[in-house]
Amino acid sequence: MADYIYTMEIRLTPDQQRGVTLVQDTARAAGMNVYLTGGAVRDIISGFSIRDLDFTVQGNPLKLQKELERAGATMSGADDDLKTLYLVLPGNVRAEISSARTERYEKTGKPAVISPATIIEDLRRRDFTVNAMALSLNPGSRGLLMDPYNGAADIETKTLRILHNYAFVEDPSRLIRALRFAARFNWPLEERTQARFESAKENKYIEYITSKAIGREIEQLAYEDDPLNIIRALEKEQWLKVLDQHWTIAKVDTVGLSELLKTRQQMSELGYPTDPAAAVLYFLTAKLGDKDVSEIRRLIPRKDLVEAWRTIEDHAKTLAKRLSGKEASTPSRTWKLLSETQPEMILFLAVASRQKAVDQKIKNFFTKWREVQKKVPLLEMTELRITPQMAEYPKIANEVFMLLLDGKLRSHTEIMKFLKPLAPPPPPPPPPPPTKRGRGAKAAAAAAQATPAVVASVAGKGKKKGKVEAAVVAPVVAAKPAPPPAAPKAEKEKKKISPPKKANKAKHKPKAKALKTGKSKTKKAKKKR
Ligand code: CTP
Repeated sequence: MADYIYTMEIRLTPDQQRGVTLVQDTARAAGMNVYLTGGAVRDIISGFSIRDLDFTVQGNPLKLQKELERAGATMSGADDDLKTLYLVLPGNVRAEISSARTERYEKTGKPAVISPATIIEDLRRRDFTVNAMALSLNPGSRGLLMDPYNGAADIETKTLRILHNYAFVEDPSRLIRALRFAARFNWPLEERTQARFESAKENKYIEYITSKAIGREIEQLAYEDDPLNIIRALEKEQWLKVLDQHWTIAKVDTVGLSELLKTRQQMSELGYPTDPAAAVLYFLTAKLGDKDVSEIRRLIPRKDLVEAWRTIEDHAKTLAKRLSGKEASTPSRTWKLLSETQPEMILFLAVASRQKAVDQKIKNFFTKWREVQKKVPLLEMTELRITPQMAEYPKIANEVFMLLLDGKLRSHTEIMKFLKPLAPPPPPPPPPPPTKRGRGAKAAAAAAQATPAVVASVAGKGKKKGKVEAAVVAPVVAAKPAPPPAAPKAEKEKKKISPPKKANKAKHKPKAKALKTGKSKTKKAKKKR
């Protein structure tokens, strides 16, 4: 048996892996067998990016809802008839948990009669062989791939094959799905599948698609990496109209959509991954009437996606207003505002905005201002012991960056003037060398005699003299650190510039100590002479 758990673990992102563990443990605790199924298994094996996680449990997944929410999952929707939960797992992982079921179709266009089933029976009700596999997540069989229709072999040969001759008749949404997968993966339909596809087209079975399937397919469009490619394939068959009677490619803002996908790619390359689904729906339906849009929204199962789409324009307007106001009056303020904004909103506004000033600020955020980050004077900071080990380091580094953004730290002198008061005190001196005997001890004793305070303290504590006394005194002398040469200079600096009060306070104590130590050493040295 191939080790599919290993394949799964290297193919899933860390967040997706945590999601699998969470659902697996939650189902297990509820006594349900659980499997990774559908597109997730197909994508793990084929090497395509894993867009979402499909789980199937033997039992009712709606019973897992509370436990999953307690663990940080959020519910996007539920289908009571199909016993399916649509959710987002921690780390923004889209997932779906369905109950293992059989589907019996009595009439084309009528919803199937659903009955609870085993996982193998469940695999039989699916659309294509590549989607009819399950990976066990159960103890004892974890990693076992169930592939009754040889889906792995069809992945190998890049083929889309229906499970039986009635696949398109039973569920006409499979026609749209065939088109969508063929366009996405660039995989052809297998010969018999193609023949059935043509025959179903001729017989216009697509007209029998259920409204539930329409909602689901429109939602899937929003998550496609290249929705325009799919839209074009649908338009070619005149099936956009099937999803909504007034929908054609002319109702799609193709320019906006292309721009969105381009900007999304650029943002992702800069380290800002985004989920553009809501924005994709906005552009896909940009020229449709309100009534059509409301109907589409009603059909989409993930209600959080619908809400994000519904509010996207208003949120963008608010953001544009904030970017044009006082809150973004300087580069540093704008940076702060945009850093705290959801990347999805920036993405949408970058494409939808008609205000030049707003566009420019977003552009600067991703280009010019990011470059300024490279100018943070790390060398000078290290020299002044302002290193990541300091608790205040992130704050200081950020402050420097903000000042650089606003052009307030232009020269080396200005940088140093700002940084010096924030520098921590020098580190304590290295530990004294091991106690010397003989001449070294004598010298130490002599030094101790010259320092009455030290002698008094030693004499008071030690009963014996000689070796012990010398051993105690020697390190005391050796431990006196040399006066820090920078100390007086730093005092001067302090007068010249007035650093923030807090930093000043923190700096005072150790500096005072350092000065005191230095003084006593000088006195001692004089006496010694
Ligand atoms: N499925 C099906 N027939 C449908 C819809 C779904 O058999 N009309 C099954 C397939 O096994 C499919 C799984 O349900 O793989 C999950 O469906 P969905 O999430 O819509 O599709 P995925 O295959 O996961 O594809 P995608 O990559 O688009 O998410």
